[in-house]
Amino acid sequence: MTQESERRLKVLVTGGTGYIGSHTVVALQQQGFEVVVIDNLSNSHSDVINRIGKITGTKPEFHEFDLVDRQETDLFFTQNPDLAGIIHFAAYKAVAESMSDPLMYYSNNLVSLMNILEAMKNHGIVNLVFSSSCTVYGQPDELPVNETAPVKAAWSAYGSTKQMSEEIIRFSVRAYGIKSIALRYFNPVGAHQSALIGEFPRGIPNNLAPFITQTAIGLHDQLNVFGSDYNTPDGTAIRDFIHVVDLAEAHIAAVDRMIGNRTKADYEVFNLGTGKGYSVLEAIQAFEKVSGRKLKYRFVDRRQGDIEQLWADTAYANKELGWKAERSLEDMMDSAWKWEQALANEKS
Ligand code: UD1
Repeated sequence: MTQESERRLKVLVTGGTGYIGSHTVVALQQQGFEVVVIDNLSNSHSDVINRIGKITGTKPEFHEFDLVDRQETDLFFTQNPDLAGIIHFAAYKAVAESMSDPLMYYSNNLVSLMNILEAMKNHGIVNLVFSSSCTVYGQPDELPVNETAPVKAAWSAYGSTKQMSEEIIRFSVRAYGIKSIALRYFNPVGAHQSALIGEFPRGIPNNLAPFITQTAIGLHDQLNVFGSDYNTPDGTAIRDFIHVVDLAEAHIAAVDRMIGNRTKADYEVFNLGTGKGYSVLEAIQAFEKVSGRKLKYRFVDRRQGDIEQLWADTAYANKELGWKAERSLEDMMDSAWKWEQALANEKS
């Protein structure tokens, strides 16, 4: 654990009004860190700052601008050089959109990262936690997949930006005296227990859990289950769903590790999953159990670009970060459902 004297350290969270970012801001504040948020609100709402304030009693300092803008970014870091660390979430993340407009993904996700690294270099900021993804593994040859598995040719431009980002960081670390931990997320699901923050997709969601809860609340007629002929026990794809609050807590462990100088290398990579795979049908069943509702769904063709099955070997993260995902699939679905209901109540 970090010492009390270190607890008031300032951490920058880019993308801090987004889904994983907002839950991480809450966790950081609850551990005593001072948090500054940068977000361009391209896929989130400024009201999240107020909601975080309601949960923790403190509204984080908020700066609305685009990290692709080099001048704005420079100005921010000139005014805020006293950062103990940066957690960089801000990025586009929709797989299908990245296929229809790859350049938008490369320029947004890579330029913002490079601007941050440049600022770290210029202002002597050492610690960077980076949001990576299990997508870098593609369909691995062995399951569960561990951090030493080869990074395979990306299946989407989105995945490609994550692979390239990891490489950009790896070489920057060697050259500029920066340290970084890349966290490869599996499938984040769920919401904060307060139901004040959660996943808030703009438009029609691509991801499974928000589509399930939106269908149950009546926003869609039914859920399409993509693929029933996979080589899995029930024929549907398998993923390692992880509660977003567990994920947020792993970021605290990563920040603590960096600030406490406990890293074993200047660039480290960890899988963040539960280590257990559940099928799409099992996820639906967990939702039906906790909500007490029958979900309307039908089987359709596989979605292009989807892999069959993926779950994490979490041994390395568990040991080195001293962190373990504790919350169950039912906890994830229950909190996601409460969040969806809270949103519906606000609208009505
Ligand atoms: C994908 C990316 C992941 C990224 C995440 C965030 C890959 C391999 N994975 O995860 O890196 O962080 O998106 O956007 O690129 N499903 C349905 N019906 C639906 C929605 C989903 O059956 O309406 C199924 C999918 O086919 C899949 C599973 O549910 O088998 C999970 O899908 P999803 O939540 O979109 O996440 P991934 O595609 O695994």
